[in-house]
Amino acid sequence: MTDQLIPIQWKDGELVLLDQTTLPNEIRYDSYQTIERVWDAIVTMKVRGAPAIGVSAAYGLYLGVKDAPENYYDKFFEILKEKSDYLATSRPTAVNLFWALERMEKKAKSLAHLEVSEIKTELLQEAIAIHQEDEEINRLIGENLLTLLSDGMGILTHCNAGALATTKYGTATSPMYLAKEKGWDIKVYADETRPRLQGSTLTALELHRAGIDVTVITDNMAAMVMSQGKIQAVIVGCDRVAANGDVANKIGTMGVAILAKNFNIPFYVAAPTPTIDLRTPTGKEIPIEERGEEEVTNRFGVPTAPKGVKVYNPAFDVTPNEFITAIVTEQGIVQAPYEENLQKLLKGAPDA
Ligand code: MRU
Repeated sequence: MTDQLIPIQWKDGELVLLDQTTLPNEIRYDSYQTIERVWDAIVTMKVRGAPAIGVSAAYGLYLGVKDAPENYYDKFFEILKEKSDYLATSRPTAVNLFWALERMEKKAKSLAHLEVSEIKTELLQEAIAIHQEDEEINRLIGENLLTLLSDGMGILTHCNAGALATTKYGTATSPMYLAKEKGWDIKVYADETRPRLQGSTLTALELHRAGIDVTVITDNMAAMVMSQGKIQAVIVGCDRVAANGDVANKIGTMGVAILAKNFNIPFYVAAPTPTIDLRTPTGKEIPIEERGEEEVTNRFGVPTAPKGVKVYNPAFDVTPNEFITAIVTEQGIVQAPYEENLQKLLKGAPDA
């Protein structure tokens, strides 16, 4: 993985984020010193993708408390909770955000016996740990997915569950990078992914830079490409897996899953365990973000719909578990019955 764009870095006490809204035209890194700016970067999707949102939020929370008064633990924890609740309002669907914030809060609670200044140092270390663990998780997901794939396959993906959405490798793209390392000849089809075009602006960009054979198609071409026998597997990422195996991911994912079933193509979901939310029983309870109408009515600043027309813009959909061939995590491959098997997988995990 040479020449990789790095979405998140912690450098000299500042968070450095790659601005994903200007890609593929401009590669621009900005430094963040305050929690408010990190919140804004998540809302405006300068940083996006479930794991990257979680990692940024952990650093953002540290930035939010690093100058808090140090006299009393109770007051410090009150401030930490307030800042955490604030970051939690940035985006509703990716559970990694809430997972990372909770993990930071738990860390602070477990250190109540220390001086507040020491707790602050430990919180930064926790954010760094969340960041570093993500890379290892993704590599393992890739290795597990690779056991389901073979040389010469055509793989369709939707949105960007790539290195840009994580720290390295991505989740859905991880086996693509590993296949490249092994010298396999795979062909990736990247759905453009309306309305924000993460497939063409991000997935195609990172895979193309890595020398992986990638072809961009518009979303409405997926059925045609599948019918032509070009696709042997679909791999997507996810923002939240409910306890019954229903999966929230970028809008359009459900349609791809339905198509895959029709054409007898396996549909795999790459899911880091922090994205599995056993506290949400089914997909019906997953909060689905709705974004501004301009994402639908404007392209590149040019109106593409009549002024004043009604717009509906859900940013995610939920793929029912019956369309999913397997959910592939860093800890193993899960198949139906999902409710039982997800519980088994997470048994013993601290947040299960
Ligand atoms: O709205 P986005 O760009 O944050 O949505 C991203 C996705 O839907 C990804 O597939 C998901 O977060 C997984 S990223 C490893």
